[in-house]
Amino acid sequence: MSCRGFGILVLAGAAAVCSFGQTDGLRAAARRRGFLVGAAVNPSLLAQDAYASALAREFNLVVAENAMKFAPTEPARGEFNFDGADRMAEFARAHGMKVRGHNLVWHQSLPKWLTEGSWSREEAMQILHDHIRAVMAHFKGKLLCWDVVNEAIAYGQPFGPQKSFWLEKIGPEYVDMAFRWAREADPDVKLYYNETGGEGAGAKSDATYKLVKGMRDRGVPIDGVGLQMHVTVQRAPTVEALSANIKRLGKLGLEVQITEMDVRIPVPVADTDLIAQADVYRNVARACLANSNCKALITWGVSDAHSWIPAKHPGFGAALLFDAEYRPKPAYQAVVDVLGSR
Ligand code: XIL
Repeated sequence: MSCRGFGILVLAGAAAVCSFGQTDGLRAAARRRGFLVGAAVNPSLLAQDAYASALAREFNLVVAENAMKFAPTEPARGEFNFDGADRMAEFARAHGMKVRGHNLVWHQSLPKWLTEGSWSREEAMQILHDHIRAVMAHFKGKLLCWDVVNEAIAYGQPFGPQKSFWLEKIGPEYVDMAFRWAREADPDVKLYYNETGGEGAGAKSDATYKLVKGMRDRGVPIDGVGLQMHVTVQRAPTVEALSANIKRLGKLGLEVQITEMDVRIPVPVADTDLIAQADVYRNVARACLANSNCKALITWGVSDAHSWIPAKHPGFGAALLFDAEYRPKPAYQAVVDVLGSR
């Protein structure tokens, strides 16, 4: 009846609390299973003991929440800054953790020198090619995979191409180009397409499938699809729908990772919502582990102390596996239990 190193989270009537399950933690359970559990990292928080120790103890993969995006890495044309990302990669090396690269091409986090410049199509292609080449060269040999393109499909119906600087300047071919340039820059790292809102069944998921199937058919080098999984309890995919989506991507020869999971609930937090949230995490972990092409489950942050949710969705929060004091939540035990079951 203990949660080694954590203290017990008391929740009346809840079976899925820390005190009833395995007690040696998420990372240990993942290791036994040969699976990756990750967290998005803000490198400036690595100086905080509680943050760094929870990260190293509980996860075996890191991804930069922002530090590897275009704006921070290329603050002026041809001038690169990898300070934060390097600190994170060094932390990962020191603690035997894998690193995902996120991301090379996106419609957000673009520097003003780029978006406010006036560029021809050729120039925009040159800038993108140079960025991919330089950033990938810097991290060569240190990463498991790169999100080469992030969110190329619109957020809303009818799920056409996402409006972006790259779409406007280059046209929809920028997606294929980016993957080809990425493969040239590093033949060994896995190349992922990462998307939001297309995790289970539905039109966004079909649009994502169609995009990556087209890439496979055209011989574009792509190894995997990241399913972000920023969800609510009400809008989370079922085990069946998520598993079916992972399977059909697998039939295209693609890996899958759950790349940015959080399950936002209303704050202040109600115990019943923590239990419902745990069910969502359990379902996602089950669907992923039921498919051999699903390689990782990554949460978008370490604890509820630092998460993008309260700023992005006012009135919501508490979306991760640890509370703001780094105590494991029912969702944590749910994922540990799934990892420990056969
Ligand atoms: C978010 C970060 O969490 C925020 O700190 C930042 O202000 C905006 O970006 N999909 C993605 C991530 O692929 O890069 C986003 O991260 C969240 C949605």
